Amino acid sequence: MTLFPEMIESGFQTSITGRAMEKGLLSLNTVNIRDFSKDLKHKKVDDYTYGGGAGLLMKADPVVDSFHSIEEKIGHKPRCIYLTPQGRTFTQEMAVDFAKEEELVFLCGHYEGIDERALDRVTTDWVSIGDYVLTGGELPAMVMMDAISRLVPGVLHNSESAETESFENGLLEYPQYTRPEVYDGSAVPKILLSGDHAKVDAYRHVQSLIRTRKYRPDLFETYVKEHPDEKIPPEVFEE
Ligand code: ADE
Repeated sequence: MTLFPEMIESGFQTSITGRAMEKGLLSLNTVNIRDFSKDLKHKKVDDYTYGGGAGLLMKADPVVDSFHSIEEKIGHKPRCIYLTPQGRTFTQEMAVDFAKEEELVFLCGHYEGIDERALDRVTTDWVSIGDYVLTGGELPAMVMMDAISRLVPGVLHNSESAETESFENGLLEYPQYTRPEVYDGSAVPKILLSGDHAKVDAYRHVQSLIRTRKYRPDLFETYVKEHPDEKIPPEVFEE
């Protein structure tokens, strides 16, 4: 549900999500909230705020009527996510939960927000993508749609899916290299050329630990607490 359906459509039709739609693994239906405006002449969907204050607010009825059109089409009340800085901050764990749903509705606000009575009637989840303010909910919806889509079985090819596990174990990804073996005087770490998979896995795990401790000490602390039996090698604490 958006005032800018073409923005969502063009983004989603690109790359991996586009390929998944062609394969019938995902589908996207945009609903233009403006189509549900009762103002036939100007298709107005916003108005001044009661009590004063800057900016315009999206009116309740086009939003509620848009949602009802979706309910009617699918035959039940779907989960409806409102994108707002007031929501719970989006995480990988939430993406995993949303990926279990057959249908998800994303409600994208614009202007100064949406009349609270519409939000009361249609939304089930309020989600923020981070502590900053954007001009509308479209980019946050696209961020969520991308993160959720890649968890749908078949959307990623096998060679792509390993990446998920890496973040889902609570650590950042280890550094990766492709050809050439030496670039601008820098060689690929020897161990990666050894063909010894156990050694490569162990090396990558240590690299993940080093990175996570350096860039996301919060995640590192959680990881250590959740893996009390794992011996962390001293080099992780070196830098
Ligand atoms: N709308 C405006 N800013 C937002 C944010 N950070 N997250 C979700 N929705 C938003």
